[in-house]
Amino acid sequence: MKDLLTTADLTPDDVRELMRLAALFAEDPDHHPAFLHNQVVALYFTRPSTRTRVSTEAAVARLGGTPLTISPGELQLSRGESLEDTARVLSGYVAAIVVRGSSDEQLAQFADAATVPVVNALTNGQHPLQSLTDLFTLHQVFSDLRGRRVAYVGAGNNVAVSLAQAAALSGVDITLATPENYPPDPLELMAAEKIAAMTGSAVELVNDPRAAARGASAVYTDVWLSMGDAPEEAGARRAALSAFRVDADLMALARPEAVFLHCLPAHRGIEVTDEVMDGPNSVVFRQAANRRPVAQAVLYALLCRTLRGAERGW
Ligand code: CP
Ligand code: NVA
Repeated sequence: MKDLLTTADLTPDDVRELMRLAALFAEDPDHHPAFLHNQVVALYFTRPSTRTRVSTEAAVARLGGTPLTISPGELQLSRGESLEDTARVLSGYVAAIVVRGSSDEQLAQFADAATVPVVNALTNGQHPLQSLTDLFTLHQVFSDLRGRRVAYVGAGNNVAVSLAQAAALSGVDITLATPENYPPDPLELMAAEKIAAMTGSAVELVNDPRAAARGASAVYTDVWLSMGDAPEEAGARRAALSAFRVDADLMALARPEAVFLHCLPAHRGIEVTDEVMDGPNSVVFRQAANRRPVAQAVLYALLCRTLRGAERGW
C-alpha cells in the first residue's frame, strides 16, 4: 500500500502493526530518531488544523526529518497548475505528502499522480489518522478491546465513518447514533459493515443517542457542523442534533468505566457539556496527545519500504 487515503483501505493486520508501532512511539518518541534523516515531508493544508498539522510536524521532526508546511496560496495550484502536475513535481522533492483538503476524489487523483506516499489529513469523507488515534487511545485505556462497544453520538460525518471502519478492523462493535437527516455516508458505512462481517464485529446505525450509549464502553462525539458543511446549515443542524448532546445523563447510561472521546476541536456546551469534557472519564487530551505517536507510526510504516528497502512496507 503506497498511500493512506481512507481507513477502509487498511487490513486488520495493518491496524495491528500500526497499533504496535504507535505504542513504541508513545513510549519513546525518539525510537527511530534518524529514520527520516535528510528527508522532507510536505504538509499541504487547505483548511485550518491544530492537532493534525502540529502533531504531524512533530512526528516528522522526532523521526529526524524536516516538515515543510505549505498553504494553498503559496502553490501555483492556486493559479491553475493541475493537481497531477503538482503531485509529480512535489514527489521529486519530498519523501511523503500529507494533505488536508475537501474532496476525496481530488485527493485520490493527487495520490495517483504522486510517486511518494500521500496521507489523508482529513477530507469531507474521511479522517483516517484520527480514527487510528481513537483506536490507539481505546487500546491504551482498556488493553483488551474484546467485548467492548463504542457509541458514536452526533452528526454522521468523516470522523464517524472512519471511526466505524477502524473499530470494525479491530473487531470492536460500534453503534452510530445520528439524526435521520444527518446520517453517515451510506457507501462509507457499507464499507465498515463489510469489514465487520469479516472480523466478526457489529456496526449498527440508530437514531436514538440513549440506545447507543446504553452499555457502551466509550462515548464519542464530534462537532455538529464540519468544515465541509455549509455554514448556513448551522441552525438546522443545532435543532436536529439538540438531543444528541453528550451530557452527564447520557454518560450515565454507559458502563461505569466508559470513557468520553472527542477528536477536537470541541464546541463546549453544544455537542458536549463542560462537565463531561472535563470529567474524570474524559480522555480527550490523552487522545489529542496520541496524534503524534500515531502520525509517527503511519509515516514509519508507509516509508519503511522506500527508506529501509524493507521487504514489506505495507
Ligand atoms: N482532530 C483534528 O483533526 O483536529 P485539527 O482539525 O485541529 O487537526
Ligand atoms: N468533522 C470535523 C472534524 C474536525 C477535526 C470536520 O470535518 O470539520
